Amino acid sequence: MAESETAVALLCGSEQSREQVAAESWCRSAGFDVDVIRAEAVAGDASLSPYDVVWWHADAVPDAPSVADLGSELRSFVADGGGLVLSLAALSAVDELDIDPVAPDDVVVDPDGPPAGPLLKSLHEDLPVFEGVERRSITREATGATVARYEAVLPERGEVLAATRLPDRDEPGLVTAVGWSVGEGSVVGLGDCLVFDAEPPADVATARDALATSLLANVADTALPDRPHDAEGLAALRERLADDPHRPSYHLSPPANWLNDPNGLVQWNGRYHVFYQYNPGGPNHDTIHWGHAVSDDLLHWEDEPVALTPSPDGPDRDGCWSGCAVDDDGTPTLLYTGGRGADQLPCLATTDDPDLRTWAKSPDNPIIEAPPEEPAVLSTDHWDGEFRDHCVWREDGTWYQLIGAGLADGGGAALLYAAEDLREWEYRGPILTGDYGIDGVVWECPELLDLGDRSLLHVSNYEDVVYFLGEYADGAFEPEERGLLDHGDFYAPQSMRTDDGRLLTWGWLPEARTESAHWDAGWAGALSLPRELSVDGDGDLRQRPAPELRDLRGARESRDDWTVAPDSPSELDLAGRSLELRAEVALADADAAELAVLETPDREERTALRYTREGDLVVDRSAASLDPETSEEELRMPVPPYDEPLDLHVYVDGSVVEVFANERHCLTARVYPTREDATGVSLTARGGAAEVSLDAWELAGTF
Ligand code: FRU
Repeated sequence: MAESETAVALLCGSEQSREQVAAESWCRSAGFDVDVIRAEAVAGDASLSPYDVVWWHADAVPDAPSVADLGSELRSFVADGGGLVLSLAALSAVDELDIDPVAPDDVVVDPDGPPAGPLLKSLHEDLPVFEGVERRSITREATGATVARYEAVLPERGEVLAATRLPDRDEPGLVTAVGWSVGEGSVVGLGDCLVFDAEPPADVATARDALATSLLANVADTALPDRPHDAEGLAALRERLADDPHRPSYHLSPPANWLNDPNGLVQWNGRYHVFYQYNPGGPNHDTIHWGHAVSDDLLHWEDEPVALTPSPDGPDRDGCWSGCAVDDDGTPTLLYTGGRGADQLPCLATTDDPDLRTWAKSPDNPIIEAPPEEPAVLSTDHWDGEFRDHCVWREDGTWYQLIGAGLADGGGAALLYAAEDLREWEYRGPILTGDYGIDGVVWECPELLDLGDRSLLHVSNYEDVVYFLGEYADGAFEPEERGLLDHGDFYAPQSMRTDDGRLLTWGWLPEARTESAHWDAGWAGALSLPRELSVDGDGDLRQRPAPELRDLRGARESRDDWTVAPDSPSELDLAGRSLELRAEVALADADAAELAVLETPDREERTALRYTREGDLVVDRSAASLDPETSEEELRMPVPPYDEPLDLHVYVDGSVVEVFANERHCLTARVYPTREDATGVSLTARGGAAEVSLDAWELAGTF
């Protein structure tokens, strides 16, 4: 192997372990200039200044007092521009070394573990420390050593660089590599993946050598990112993903990494605040924080720092799950679900920050100690009680709260509590329970909305967002009508009452591709457009896109009274991935009329919205993408015949196609065309001519 210029100090305890001896000889054979230095010597008067890199490779958990003595020497070495690599169990010492207050929680001796390697985050795979390292590789067989990984918690300062790759799958929830900047220098923690006292197959050894060589050779010269905590850092992260054609440009998405439910929606001091379930560690559902975005016009959003972070010692250690925001006589207050172990329990946080950036969690969390006993709440292999998510309102001076649940004897439930002060809650019982065969086993994210003449209760049952329109009084909901808020990729919506009295609802638009595809993209999840909910004169539900969205309109193409001839597609001149289309469609002689978007000129890729004589709107994704990792599932929504001609209102935005039919029915589809020229729009009539009037606009991106 080539000679390296890098001078490495290999740190060990009073004795070198077998693994450390093996690491030393590997290091020499790899051409590094290496000295073995005892930890006591460093804590004493040995100088680290001749070295570029200190490598602490510990195959057993180092004992705490000796680490503390080392800390200040190592920190000043790094602060002056040195590189520090903490491998295997050495990563577990980051808190004692004062590099990060949160240490890895998964520290295990793993003799029989399957072969593993790093799963590099696509955002960071171009860092010099990973030069020549594949995004997915296997770099060790069974270890016998102690490995240190972040599983239920995330480092507070460090940026996740890699999770775990197993021979047959990604493990995005097992974080093995973290980077920190300290002064002028950099620290990489790699709690797994490198073992030298073993003879692995040649391909594993080659991948291991590439990883170790690149780390040691480059750590001192790589400016490693800390986890971005401010708006500027988040904007830079967002910028890195800007060229991804599947990124929405006017729908809210996370700056990078994972987003699910919208939370804590509130207009405060005139500004619209959207919080959301966010994993800063990667594009996977894990270690859930609350992300935050703010807007003055519902169109242009700015990333704000993370608003809620799980407390390693708190009832929300495993995640700050969904919840809502209320105005408690001038004090913005959040109620959310804290997860820890098998418990999910209500927690509270308040702020006096007019920008709603920093929140103080109540010392009394969890504010409800256990799920109710009657009716008994469902427990599963994972949870003592399926009991989470919050909808809070005030009525005649009393606070009320709904919590979503699953019941032990089957079916979802929305459980009602009452309080004088948002803190001491009294259980009142379910306002509605569902039949599990029809409405699902668990109701997540229940929300009760006052629409004037009627009330609307919606719940998310793992599959769909079911709504009930009816009467709510005295702690009981009488449903009169049932429906789905959206017939596609839409889940866990929440609403905001705006200062001008409107009710705006956002839902989570989950991805429709594999978890590995999320990992490769570096982000997952988006929010729907804000939808105005109301009931019309007949008491029927209306859902319209917020009128503010019209301000995004740019170039326009219109076709009035257009007879679309049967069977051969007519293309619009307007094309793109950021479009609004509004069409009145009468089937006339046709059996079906089809609007295709994101279409290639040869129609190899296209997403077809088909309006049929049977009264359905079908989103046909069979040709939406050439990528086999994406969903081809057909989505279908009834658009009752009395709705003819159909008013079809479609928003196309990267991988989002959001459809409003007759301002009543919604269907959102996630689609991932692969070809650059998948930007066309066409209309086709089947079996006869259809009559269409249409307006189409290019929309301005707001990110
Ligand atoms: C809905 C949900 C909620 C939970 C949150 C966790 O998507 O499962 O029930 O609070 O997401 O992220």
